[in-house]
Amino acid sequence: MTHRIAVIPGDGIGTEVIAEAVRVLERVGGVELHHLPWSAEHYLASGQTIPPDGYDTLRSFDAVLVGALGDPRVPDNRHARDILLGTRFELDLYVNQRPVRLLDERLCPLKDRTPEEVNFVVFRENTEGLYVGIGGRFKPGTDEEVAVQEEINTFKGVNRIVRHAFAFARSRGLRRVCMADKSNAMTHGHALWQRVFQEVSKEYADVEATHLYIDALSMFLVQDPGRFDVIVTNNLFGDIITDIGGALQGGLGMAASGNIHPGRTSMFEPVHGSAPPLAGKNVANPIGAILSAALMLETLGRADDGAGIERAVAAAVQANEVTVDVGGDLGTREAGEAILRALS
Ligand code: NAD
Ligand code: IPM
Ligand code: MN
Repeated sequence: MTHRIAVIPGDGIGTEVIAEAVRVLERVGGVELHHLPWSAEHYLASGQTIPPDGYDTLRSFDAVLVGALGDPRVPDNRHARDILLGTRFELDLYVNQRPVRLLDERLCPLKDRTPEEVNFVVFRENTEGLYVGIGGRFKPGTDEEVAVQEEINTFKGVNRIVRHAFAFARSRGLRRVCMADKSNAMTHGHALWQRVFQEVSKEYADVEATHLYIDALSMFLVQDPGRFDVIVTNNLFGDIITDIGGALQGGLGMAASGNIHPGRTSMFEPVHGSAPPLAGKNVANPIGAILSAALMLETLGRADDGAGIERAVAAAVQANEVTVDVGGDLGTREAGEAILRALS
């Protein structure tokens, strides 16, 4: 079976890490890769962030693999908003699945934490919250400036991500789902999260449902990450805590993600950004991108292919055949080659 994949390398280190993910996918096979040039460079040259039929183009593929978007030459981040956030919204990719899995004890910045303890999945709501861009600025640039940015929480949006988290836990035999909000301060929007979480958890009596305020959860992520199996939270909190999750795995370069609408075209990308200071130097860690490709295959129903890539990555990590950010001495390409060798 061949899957048609749109590949958007994007900006900065995105292009370098995606080149390695592409080599891995080509080795595994069963994919037809179509490169799309959408990036800051493309926007600056053409004036177009994404073509008018861009989202339909993406929908015509089985999945999308993205590097990163962000470039100092586009300070308002317009192209990232259209390509990355736009795709999340337009393709209704409401599940942002961000696994946090420590592959080797030596990578964890915390003392004495084992791979068994640092092993959980964050489900970040991906289509609403503070990301919808509703708001505006009144009297901008003056001492009277007022800036409004609305947070949207809907029953539909909260219900589907909370249900997804519980269904995932049950299907993987995971015991615990923790919902994190800030309902003690955000007494309207996050009361909806409380209500929905309580209702849905009743249908999953086999799964332990717990709640933490997001500030306390952040503390426990550092102090006792072993208490988590599945975390579900809103768009902004999920963004922030998955950078902590990246650090727990050894660094942002290790972290993978999927923007998923179950059964529809979904988009996979490393958690990290374009890291302009590292770009073009062959130093970026390609593992987050490669694990995102593995998650893509898994989500497309090819669990064995995904697991094979994950094993190869783990083998390269255990042999310390990795980039400098995680304690090795290889460049991006060489680290990709080590994973390719472990695959064959
Ligand atoms: P960033 O993730 O690009 O980098 C932060 C730091 O993390 C880097 O300086 C580096 O020290 C480390 N890092 C990240 N990825 C790494 C890798 N693969 N290997 C080794 N080290 C790595 O975050 P930032 O500096 O806040 O943002 C830079 C640009 O990227 C901005 O324009 C931002 O908006 C954008 N961004 C895009 C995405 C995305 O496309 N999904 C995600 C985050 C940030
Ligand atoms: C991420 C990124 C994006 C986000 C930015 C680039 C808008 O940080 O995918 O984690 O905040 O969702
Ligand atoms: Mn982020």
